[in-house]
Amino acid sequence: MEILKVKNLKTYFEIGKEKFKAVDDVSFSLNEGESLGLVGESGCGKTTTALSIMRLIPKNGWIADGEILYKGMDLTKKSIEDIRKFRWKEISIIFQGAMNALNPVLTVGEQIKEAILLHEKISVTECKKRVLELFDMVEIDKKRVTRYPHEFSGGMKQRVMIAMALSLKPKIIIGDEPTTALDVMVQAQIFDLIERLKNELNMSMILITHDLSIIAENCQHTAIMYGGKILERGKTNEICEKPMNPYTKLLLESFPDLDKEKHMPSSIPGYPPDLTNPPAGCRFHPRCPIADGICASVEPKPCYISDTHSYSCHKGGAL
Ligand SMILES: Nc1ncnc2c1ncn2[C@@H]1O[C@H](COP(=O)(O)OP(=O)(O)OP(=O)(O)O)[C@@H](O)[C@H]1O
Ligand SMILES: [Mg+2]
Repeated sequence: MEILKVKNLKTYFEIGKEKFKAVDDVSFSLNEGESLGLVGESGCGKTTTALSIMRLIPKNGWIADGEILYKGMDLTKKSIEDIRKFRWKEISIIFQGAMNALNPVLTVGEQIKEAILLHEKISVTECKKRVLELFDMVEIDKKRVTRYPHEFSGGMKQRVMIAMALSLKPKIIIGDEPTTALDVMVQAQIFDLIERLKNELNMSMILITHDLSIIAENCQHTAIMYGGKILERGKTNEICEKPMNPYTKLLLESFPDLDKEKHMPSSIPGYPPDLTNPPAGCRFHPRCPIADGICASVEPKPCYISDTHSYSCHKGGAL
């Protein structure tokens, strides 16, 4: 069953006199209990999409159009008071670079406690008990609740952030690059932890990353984002086995194949588009090896090749 549906979302920023179309007509859906990976190069609009869902867009930004349906309710139409009732409780986020946002002068236990008390009317004793339970959940020794952030490793700080994001038992958790800056071993441990908690708490997840191998391991569905748009989406195996958009194909090829001999990820030649003045036609056409006249002039519409798999490209599957 669908728990979240994002329909034709447009989120813009104002920079001076210019309009910057960070998210430009994005649609996807998330099923209950499932994980959706949102992938794309830096600056393509992943975090802005997440912040739009949370209604936490920076002041110079706004949702210009579209719907964000959570259990059928359109969150874009809700007042800030209503939004406060569901933010963190229904939908929560582990922010990009969150572990560096812990307050250095408060113990980690205090910080989680404050986050809970801000949203729930429970006694301090009950809250302390909840903090200890959360520490147990994210596998940190309970004795450490009275320690300060600098006494924690990067991986442990990230566990604290996960505990904080889960403290109100949300139905949807958004992980915005939850393991960036951690080494590969610790990354794997954190993903195992997230996966276990997701199942135990029966949550759905949106996982944001630019690493497709992380998505392949952790998500049933994938959406490929480029220059503020979704170029392809579907079940992760559909996307990996039959990529239709050349960008998806190049992105897949740019990751080292773990089964074959090791090589470093390569990058796709060229640069992402300038979103104050995006290219006409397909946003990827200036970098696409098979683009021709129509790609430069007509924006491709989504084509469905299964109930779940769709792509936007005039040359689908030709690369
Ligand atoms: N407050 C803002 N004002 C103006 N532009 C912004 C603002 N926040 C983000 N942007 C721009 O919007 C675009 C999308 O940013 P966003 O952070 O959503 O990208 P991202 O896909 O999360 O990238 P990354 O992988 O680097 O985290 C970027 O070009 C960014 O510079
Ligand atoms: Mg981001």
